[in-house]
Amino acid sequence: MACPFQQTAEINPALQPLDWLLGTWESDEPGQGTFPTINPFRYTEMLHFSHVGQPIINFMFNAFHTETKKPLHRECGFIRMQPGTNKVAFIIAQNSGLVEIEEGELIGQQLNLQSQAVARISFAKQPHVQQVSRVFKLRPDGKLEQTVSMATDSQPLMQHLHITYHPSS
Ligand code: HEM
Repeated sequence: MACPFQQTAEINPALQPLDWLLGTWESDEPGQGTFPTINPFRYTEMLHFSHVGQPIINFMFNAFHTETKKPLHRECGFIRMQPGTNKVAFIIAQNSGLVEIEEGELIGQQLNLQSQAVARISFAKQPHVQQVSRVFKLRPDGKLEQTVSMATDSQPLMQHLHITYHPSS
């Protein structure tokens, strides 16, 4: 059930610097997935950022197979900002069994994040993720861009995903 405050709540002033993220975003061209140990792949994705008046953004990222529309990777969590600073924290749970804290800085309309803590369920598939870094950037043309890099047990930090989104109508 939707939170009754979701439609009506005024944005908390602490979130003003991140207001450009709010709403639903849909991938433009299919995103590109790469990593040295896997076959390159393409995917579509919808991002949803919302708030209920708290100084916290709630998010859900749902990726799909581009042709079959079958659900694939899914992440959800919360975004917080340290009051009076440009420090941002993402608290993330992924359907693969991975959980992460990512922190970083907001510079203009770009977020640069690095994982500070990574943990997983005991039966998560290998190789295990050891590190994640990501960049969200609002481009001058109004499109949102996300780039994700990761390090695993077997590979150093390298790009896994690159995708751009437009606001969903
Ligand atoms: C931060 C987010 C993500 C993390 C940490 C992550 C992590 C991983 C890892 C550890 C692997 C295995 C690499 C290896 O075998 O060496 C992998 C493979 C893969 N990932 Fe991601 N992933 C993420 C997001 C996504 C998203 C959004 C998609 C979109 C569909 C995706 C699709 C895939 C695919 C298709 C493979 C290859 C699977 C296979 O060949 O069995 N991932 N990912």
